[in-house]
This record gives sequence, structure tokens and C-alpha cells, in this order.
Amino acid sequence: MAADLACYNIADLRLRAQRRLPHGVWEYLERGVEDEAAMARNRAAFDAVTFRPRVLRGVHAIDTRTTIFGRESPLPLALAPTGAAGLLWHEGDLALARAAAEAGLPFTISSASTIDVEQIAAAGGRQWFQLYLWEDRALSHAVLERAWQSGCEALFVTLDMSVPPNREYIHRNGFGTPFRLNARNTLDVLTHPRWLAGVMGRYALSGGIPSQANLPDRLRASVTKGAHPGALFKLDNLDWEEMRALRDRWPGKLVLKGILHPADAEEAVRLGADGIVVSNHGGRALDSAIAPLAALPDIRSAVSDRLTLFLDSGIRRGSDVVKALAQGADAVLVGRAPLYGLSAAGQPGVTRALSLLAEELRRTMALLGTRSLAEIDLELIG
Ligand SMILES: Cc1cc2nc3c(=O)[nH]c(=O)nc-3n(C[C@H](O)[C@H](O)[C@H](O)COP(=O)(O)O)c2cc1C
Repeated sequence: MAADLACYNIADLRLRAQRRLPHGVWEYLERGVEDEAAMARNRAAFDAVTFRPRVLRGVHAIDTRTTIFGRESPLPLALAPTGAAGLLWHEGDLALARAAAEAGLPFTISSASTIDVEQIAAAGGRQWFQLYLWEDRALSHAVLERAWQSGCEALFVTLDMSVPPNREYIHRNGFGTPFRLNARNTLDVLTHPRWLAGVMGRYALSGGIPSQANLPDRLRASVTKGAHPGALFKLDNLDWEEMRALRDRWPGKLVLKGILHPADAEEAVRLGADGIVVSNHGGRALDSAIAPLAALPDIRSAVSDRLTLFLDSGIRRGSDVVKALAQGADAVLVGRAPLYGLSAAGQPGVTRALSLLAEELRRTMALLGTRSLAEIDLELIG
């Protein structure tokens, strides 16, 4: 299936995804916020970087392996947490997790997944858990315990969504939560029969559209109903003190996601975090946020090598991975790239997205004369 997908880069998968999904669902996957300036800035930051390659280095054996949290990884790359993958493909979270496991890459389970943490963890491979906190904090603590018991190695706490982001397109498209058919979205859904049958139809046969799968049964809403009181995410009262309490509670690796300021990165070190993700949420939170790639050098000098530095937001090519590593990242996360593959073709589509990025990374390294990740540094940029 993946081999006959005539998709030769992430942009091809993106086009396929756009064709297959109803417009409202597509915009949920693709769009940023407000004027989408942050999204544009994320790409512009990568596009502005050029390399000064070295030659005659004997690049017949390229080694892309690295160590993340003390364990070997075949690539400096992991799948970012992305909620509602189940809207893009039937049981999309499972397809992502299985493709990641097959590729030997870590997968980050989203708090907002449509399949519960135990079932996703059963897909195998190396898994991390991303946390948004529910208003009733006891619910979050219970889910953390379940994530730990299920074998999740790291906890990623997302910090850049203290209030809901300004997604104007949701109102325009009539695709809000709770989801209901209305004058604005019915035609959109009906004109995408493959999605309607393949995603919604299959859920309908198995008892309804799932949502908030990580909540206990009694509090679980469906995408078509609303959330129960206390079972809504509440992040505007989160502070460093609560983060210290989470550090004490979580026995595994702790990663703070959504850091852009060097002072916050230093605070993360003081807290005892094992990593941070330099991220602007793929341009989906604060529209005037700095591009993570531009924020990276100052953050790297602030933290030195005291924690693992991940970067995400805007990665669409293997060469982008090299650019992030050259400027100080230890590894990157990818959000939309695997989701384009998922929406285009399910698990084989995710596999295709990951292998395209891996191939491009290897080719870029060879053309740069770098045989291992350790040889990627600022000297290559010019
Ligand atoms: C459809 C979608 C859903 C997302 N859901 C979550 C989420 O539940 N939790 C989270 O921390 N980040 C979420 N993100 C942000 C990603 O983890 C990541 O930061 C971002 O996608 C990286 O940018 P990129 O898409 O350009 O690779 C989501 C992103 C997308 C595109």
C-alpha cells in the first residue's frame, strides 16, 4: 500500500490528506491561529538556513542513531502528541503508535487521544505521555498513574496553551466541540464519502464516536455531546509550584513542552526536568510567537547540556532535522508530517511519512559530508 502511494515528499502526503478530509477536519489538522504568522515564521526560519557542505569525507555509511534518555534511537526524531487523530482516520492514534513502533521511534500519546492510554500502549514500542490538566486535578493524577503503569517512559507537560487558542476557522466551518451536523458542515461531510464511511461509519458501527478516552467512563463525553463539569482542561492556573509537585509525583522522565524563553528553560533545569521542547505548538497557540528554530541557540546556551533539548514546529524535510540539530537540538518532534500520512492512507501513510523524513535526513547528511549526528554542528551553516 505505502509503496504505491505516489507520494515523494511530505507535501505530496499533505495534498492527499487535504483531498480526503472534509474541509472542516482538514482545517483542524492544518491551520494555525489568527493570521497564521507563527506558522509562516516557522517555515521561513528553516528556509532561511543554508549549508556549507564538506566534501571527500567517505559518506558510504551514514549513522543516524542517537541516544534519548539513555536509550538508543534509530533517528533523532519522535512523534509529537496530536489529539483527535481519531477524527482523521479510524482509530488514528493506534495507527500512529503502530507505525512509530515499527520504525523504532518514540510515540507521544496525547491527553486528548480518542483511544485510552492502555490500548495505545498495547501497540508496543517506546511511548511517552503528554499531559493537559483537567480542572479536577485528581482526574489528571489518576491518568498519570495509568500512563506510568502502562509503561510510558516520559511525561510531556504542555505549557503553551494556558487559554484556548483563537481558532476563528472553527466558527466559520461549524466544526466545533460538541460536533453536530449543521447547515455549514453537512454538505462538507457528505461530499467526502470515503472519510464519512471509513471514519465516522466505522465508529457508528462500533458504538459511537469516541472522545476524551482517557477519562473514567462516568465522565467521558462523546465528540457529539459536551464535556462534564470538571472534565474540561484547565491550564490558566498552572504555575511552577504545581509543576514541582508534578515532578515529585511522576517517577519517569519529565519534559516541559512549549518553552521559548531562555529564563523558562533555566527554570526547567532548576525544577529537575529531564528535557524541554522548544516549540510554539506548530503555530497553533500564540500567533506572534518566535519561531522555535530562532529561539533555539539562546536556549541551548542557557541550559548547556543539563537537559535534553527537543524542537518542533514546521519540520517537513529531513534537511530541517539537520538544521535543528546544527543549532543545538538533540532531537525533533514531528506533528503534522505523520498526520498528513495518516489522513492520506492510515498506518502505511504514517510509515511513508517517517521513511521519507529518514531518507531525506540520510541524503542530506551524505551531501554535507557528515557521517554521524555528532558531526552536525554550526560550522555547517553559512
Ligand atoms: C492536529 C494537531 C493536534 C495537536 N494536539 C496536540 C495535543 O493534544 N497536545 C500537545 O501538546 N500538542 C498538540 N499538538 C502540537 C504538536 O504536539 C506539535 O507541537 C506541533 O504539531 C509541531 O508542529 P508541526 O505540526 O509543524 O510539526 C497538535 C498539533 C496538531 C497539528
